[in-house]
Amino acid sequence: MKHLLSLFALFFLYACSGPEHPAAEPAGTEARIAMATAANPHAVAAAIEMLEKGGHAVDAAIAAHAVLGLVEPQSSGLGGGGFMLVYDSTEESLFFHDGRESAPAGATVDMFMRDGQVMNYFESWQSGKSVGVPGAIALYKDTHDQHGKLAWAEILEPAIRLATEGFEVSPRLANYLPMMAERSRLAKNPGTAAYFYPGGEPLKAGDLLKNPEYANTLTRVAEEGISAFYAGEIAETIVAAAQAEPNGGALTLEDMANYQVMKRPVICGAFRDMQICTSSPPSSGGAQIMIAGLYDHLAANAANQADRVAAFVDAQRLAYADRDHYFGDPDEIDIPLDDLLDPLYLKHRATERFEPGAVPTPGDPGLVLHQDSAAALWAPDTTEEAAGTTHLSIIDGDGNAVSMTATVEAPFGSQRWAAGFVLNNEMTDFAREVPADGSRPANAIAPGRRPRSSMSPSMVFDSEGDIVMVTGSPGGNSIPAYVAKTIVGVLDWGMSAQEAVDHPNIVARGEMVRVEISADPGQAIADDLKARGYNVQEREGENSGLHIIVVHDDSLDGAADKRREGIVRELHLTQ
Ligand code: DON
Repeated sequence: MKHLLSLFALFFLYACSGPEHPAAEPAGTEARIAMATAANPHAVAAAIEMLEKGGHAVDAAIAAHAVLGLVEPQSSGLGGGGFMLVYDSTEESLFFHDGRESAPAGATVDMFMRDGQVMNYFESWQSGKSVGVPGAIALYKDTHDQHGKLAWAEILEPAIRLATEGFEVSPRLANYLPMMAERSRLAKNPGTAAYFYPGGEPLKAGDLLKNPEYANTLTRVAEEGISAFYAGEIAETIVAAAQAEPNGGALTLEDMANYQVMKRPVICGAFRDMQICTSSPPSSGGAQIMIAGLYDHLAANAANQADRVAAFVDAQRLAYADRDHYFGDPDEIDIPLDDLLDPLYLKHRATERFEPGAVPTPGDPGLVLHQDSAAALWAPDTTEEAAGTTHLSIIDGDGNAVSMTATVEAPFGSQRWAAGFVLNNEMTDFAREVPADGSRPANAIAPGRRPRSSMSPSMVFDSEGDIVMVTGSPGGNSIPAYVAKTIVGVLDWGMSAQEAVDHPNIVARGEMVRVEISADPGQAIADDLKARGYNVQEREGENSGLHIIVVHDDSLDGAADKRREGIVRELHLTQ
């Protein structure tokens, strides 16, 4: 296994090598297996269409995401951004492409403050100030340029076709609309009112919905390239929507023209004899390495599954406190990331005890490792996050893999409409509250900066360097907990992909532990944690959207999250 293992040892990688064989090739046959799992069947169909044509997993991911932007506009789309973690089996390398939205040049640290108070979330969410430069289209281009095999126009074709011919409104999309009409501006804003509430009534599940504006935008991008999006008429429409009063924002054509996808380090860390590889900040992928590393210490003496669940809860509590305190935009702030992921630090951190009902404070890896405090760098974090994100996982017939999480932040983003899609409200992912004492959280707003994200597209490799798992989820601040459940569930609790996804979600951040009790053994877990002294909040449902693939020697085991409306499909290809 070549240089994967030695590069893993470096711990902090721009690209790390991997297996040289396809992900799953049954012995003695020429068959190769590919798989796609995502939050909507149309998106999975688009991915499979690309994989059947011999496309790279990246081609399939772009095709699927362009469809998701159409059929699942509440979650992500062309007006938003996302992260793509790519395993390229030919180059035996991992790449992290950061298509996160960036703050306009006119953004200010206190743009969500008024009279010394932070504006309420509702007002911030639906203001033009919340709109960052959309990154999705540039992410398509950057990943396609580097990895794609099919023609650029070909991968956008399924979404253009579906937008032109129409698609049936899904129950989840339809369910949002009456609620949004009551609680937000979706039924009032120009564009969104006409599209989602034709004739003043919300679309119903099963209605045929066409989106010629979306088809036109993607057709122009397909024919003219991404400059058709980041300059000219489409960019002008985006800027006008972001600046529209009331509560207009600062986004300009110059911000649009300056947008760049960032190629960032892939970070890997040990879990047992495996390696978890994930996206670096501004993503929170590093929390996966922290949770798994802490869990390993905390569960070392577990006598039973209840002890293991309690260890998982404590690992999350400690990792969240560190993530919340230290993570932000790495181009703008100092993040002691290699220290936070250092096995010595994690071993020490696992010994720090907090009462079950107490709020764990951040650790100090600088002090632990170098007798030089890092904790005082930042004011306490004040970031809040809402719901509106999607995740897809794909493995192609050559063993290339994509883990992609994309977002518009809150449901339907800022609810401002431009050229066939909603614009994000990703700027509310910053810490909006500005401390009066002049100190700044790591995730404070600044011009051009990218807000911290909880999105954590991740992959796991075994001791041979072979890919074991592709995972990720939406869910705002709960993403690290949701994703970690699949890693620990499959790799320690012995679950299949679907069992791990179905397992009740457990989210332990701050003083509360949320436990999803709608499925077994949720109630038993909640009762046990209460008996151990934790502040347990029982939840009927959680907002995960885990779409994962587990790789076995001669098969792929995929799962779609039943909490959303996705599916998993497998494709057998012959050479
Ligand atoms: O990037 C982030 O962390 C958030 N914008 C994600 C929001 C989210 O996952 C909501 N999901 N349901």
